Amino acid sequence: MKYVRREVSPDDLKRQEELMDQVAELNAARNAPALALVDTYGCQQNEADSEKIRGMLIKMGYTMTDSEAEADIIVINTCAVREHAEQRVLGNVGALTHTKKAKPSQIICLCGCMMQEPGMADRIRTSYPHVRLVFGPHVLWRFPEYLLALLRGRKRIYAAEESDGVIAEGLPSARDSLVKAWLPIMYGCNNFCSYCIVPYVRGRERSRTPEDVLREARELVDMGYKDITLLGQNVNSYGKDLDGGVDFSDLIEMINAIPGEFLIRFMTSHPKDAGEKLFSTMARCEKCARHIHLPFQSGSDRVLEAMNRRYTRKGYLELVGMARRYMPNVVLTSDVIVGFPGETEEEFEDTLSLIEEVRFDALFTFIFSPRVGTPAAGMPDPFTREEKQRRFDRLVEAQNAISEEKHREYVGKTARVLVDGREGELLTSRTSGGRLVRFPGDPALIGSFRDVRITGSSTWALNGELTGPEV
Ligand code: SAM
Ligand code: SF4
Ligand code: F3S
Repeated sequence: MKYVRREVSPDDLKRQEELMDQVAELNAARNAPALALVDTYGCQQNEADSEKIRGMLIKMGYTMTDSEAEADIIVINTCAVREHAEQRVLGNVGALTHTKKAKPSQIICLCGCMMQEPGMADRIRTSYPHVRLVFGPHVLWRFPEYLLALLRGRKRIYAAEESDGVIAEGLPSARDSLVKAWLPIMYGCNNFCSYCIVPYVRGRERSRTPEDVLREARELVDMGYKDITLLGQNVNSYGKDLDGGVDFSDLIEMINAIPGEFLIRFMTSHPKDAGEKLFSTMARCEKCARHIHLPFQSGSDRVLEAMNRRYTRKGYLELVGMARRYMPNVVLTSDVIVGFPGETEEEFEDTLSLIEEVRFDALFTFIFSPRVGTPAAGMPDPFTREEKQRRFDRLVEAQNAISEEKHREYVGKTARVLVDGREGELLTSRTSGGRLVRFPGDPALIGSFRDVRITGSSTWALNGELTGPEV
């Protein structure tokens, strides 16, 4: 059946705004401030969703707190991508029975990808009765309606029906940082990599219109944001579901034309859809960060096929070569899965040799985690957890040596960095390629671009000193 793109209507969104005002009135009538806590698991998409949940909570009269004991409402935004993430969520939700006992009026909510898994809402209903609200990512925009119903006495709400997904524009957002901002450009995924649960819980690919993306990008630049990350599970598919003929490279070009000094980043690029137009656009657009995160997942063609990734090792290496021809200093990072069902020692060696050949700046390494309902969960998997862990440790060790060498090459050079925060006595900053640089300086520098001479390095970060004036 063909997917029909659906935007939530302005009338439906307006109704939610009215409900937000009603919650705010209830909170204003209390004799103590209403406190809310939002806890986030998972990827940047979930962080962006949590910023919207916080935005709505603030509009509804809540003040944010870090205290589980004091919070009137706790929202846990969950991730389903690996079993470990799920176990952490369930462990933490279980522990909240104590805070709920001490403060019976506390409202505990669970939302995010895990809630969209078949059977999960029922499991919460039977095993975690202290949770009063469950909602999936597709109905996030209806959060005010659910909350108001609970405040008016509804006992529990479970709202996680199956859906291909919608687009809800104009929700308020309370952003975590004053320097860096997430900008979702599309939602969902159509790729169905055989190990991955995301397409089942996040629905079909749907793009925001270029007008909506550009409007938000301009607002962010006007508000002073200096680092804007365009988000999507596969940003290279941007626009395929729209009629206007604007693809991802065109979108980068349009955002690059917004006046001001800021960086454009994006996550994630699927290698099957990345190519010459993307790399040439990145090279031409001076605001586009010199960084590409290009997950390869495995260096073996047999495993790549079983993963349904739709590219080969050779094709991947050619892409890396092309990216480096257009941007000789581009920083390359990637994701890799160790222990995919049936992955042999030889096939694992193919992954090792690929990282030695490419020499990524950094790698996100994962041990395969079977996800119920995905094809890979049903594939024969003869290798033990210990064997997979041994391979994982070898891979991490090999990559750490590469990252350390690559970082050493920065020493003695000067890098333009964006100062984004502080850690103890030091300021933290990022190069255009996304490398972390710490250096001593005045916190007034946060939010500005500076030149820093790199004086030291480690596997994970660089140290430096300012070359120009202190402020
Ligand atoms: N859409 C992105 C892409 O295709 O590159 C990735 C999204 S996923 C949230 C992030 C990473 O988690 C993937 O690149 C993959 O390496 C890893 N991942 C996904 N499913 C996994 C599973 N079942 N077991 C282990 N790692 C997994
Ligand atoms: Fe998952 Fe593959 Fe989609 Fe990425 S592209 S979210 S790994 S199915
Ligand atoms: Fe997790 Fe959902 Fe992101 S499953 S990785 S939070 S899209």
